[in-house]
Amino acid sequence: MAYTVPKLDDYSQETVAREANKLVAALEVESESVHTEEEWKVFRDRWLSRKNGIKSQLNDLWLKAAPTEHKRHIGQAVNLLVSKIEHDVESRHRYVQTYLGFLGAASGIAKAVHELSLERQPIDITLPGIRRPLGAEHPVLRTMNEITGVFRAMGYSVAEGPEIESDYYNFEALNFPPNHPARDTQDTIFVAGQEKKPQRDRLLLRTHTSPVQIRAMLRQPPPIRVVVPGKVHRADTADATHSPIFHQVEGLAVDTDITFCDLKGTLDHAMKALFGSDVKTRFYPSFFPFTEPSADVQVTCFKCGGKGCRLCKMSGWIELLGCGMVDPNVFKFVESNGYDARKISGFAFGMGVERITMLKYGIDDIQLFYQGDVRFLEQFA
Ligand code: DAH
Repeated sequence: MAYTVPKLDDYSQETVAREANKLVAALEVESESVHTEEEWKVFRDRWLSRKNGIKSQLNDLWLKAAPTEHKRHIGQAVNLLVSKIEHDVESRHRYVQTYLGFLGAASGIAKAVHELSLERQPIDITLPGIRRPLGAEHPVLRTMNEITGVFRAMGYSVAEGPEIESDYYNFEALNFPPNHPARDTQDTIFVAGQEKKPQRDRLLLRTHTSPVQIRAMLRQPPPIRVVVPGKVHRADTADATHSPIFHQVEGLAVDTDITFCDLKGTLDHAMKALFGSDVKTRFYPSFFPFTEPSADVQVTCFKCGGKGCRLCKMSGWIELLGCGMVDPNVFKFVESNGYDARKISGFAFGMGVERITMLKYGIDDIQLFYQGDVRFLEQFA
């Protein structure tokens, strides 16, 4: 039943308060059911219309009907109720307008979502999907890992050393005496401004991984078997076969009774593992200050099988690495850690990773490794 303003049976405070509460409760319930502009107009007129709205009923039925002695407090009550009615009607109007605004926006969004929805767009299932290309190991690192892998399988551990090295480790402890012409073969890049330091302390960019032989022997007494992959630097002009930065893998084995036969057997096995079991090796006399005797290792050309072709310059052999028996002079520099040349012996070897990679894959320009051209690199994926 819709609310109507009752006549008051009496004008006591209690009666007025009770009836006022009923009116406010009805006002609030009705206000909450208003959601549209039309509903709100009906609501407004019902409560505020001069023609028989609840506000004018209050005036007629409560205020005008009240005997004089009650007019004062009935008047106050009616005023309060009227301002409450006006306030609620007004605030419901604001609510309805905001609410309608939201509804409008929401239905706009819903419509847009619907327009974009998959069901409304034709799907071409023959289009290719989005492919994320997998990265691949760089060919130089791949060869480097392959080489260290071959030696790890023979019980070698892996060590690394600094790229900025002192003259002592790069030269002196490897039996390159000061001012010896063998230093010239290394095309060294020196760190500038160190003239005041003693020569052995001057810094340079290591020209080979051999200084890590010394560092490894200082860290670990014999026996030792270690391979050292790493980056080296030389003052070389870049061309198809030279790069000022390249990579080497160094090897060192020291124990009692290590002989040249161990060196030959080890490297012959390693070359077969890297280039195929058909290759043969030969050891060609050479010179390095830190090995005595020294040798260059050559393998039969894996392209022509030894008959002679462009790759092996018609010789049938390809030169791959340097090696030799550790010179007793080198052991003198690490004697304090148990390397007594009268009791132990060892061999060492060092190989260029780029050169081996080029030979393995038939690459004719070393610069391709550093240019980052994906068309080149993705062939190794
Ligand atoms: N360090 C030499 C170079 O870069 C290569 C080398 C030769 C390393 C003989 C060795 C070795 O360990 O025994 O030219």
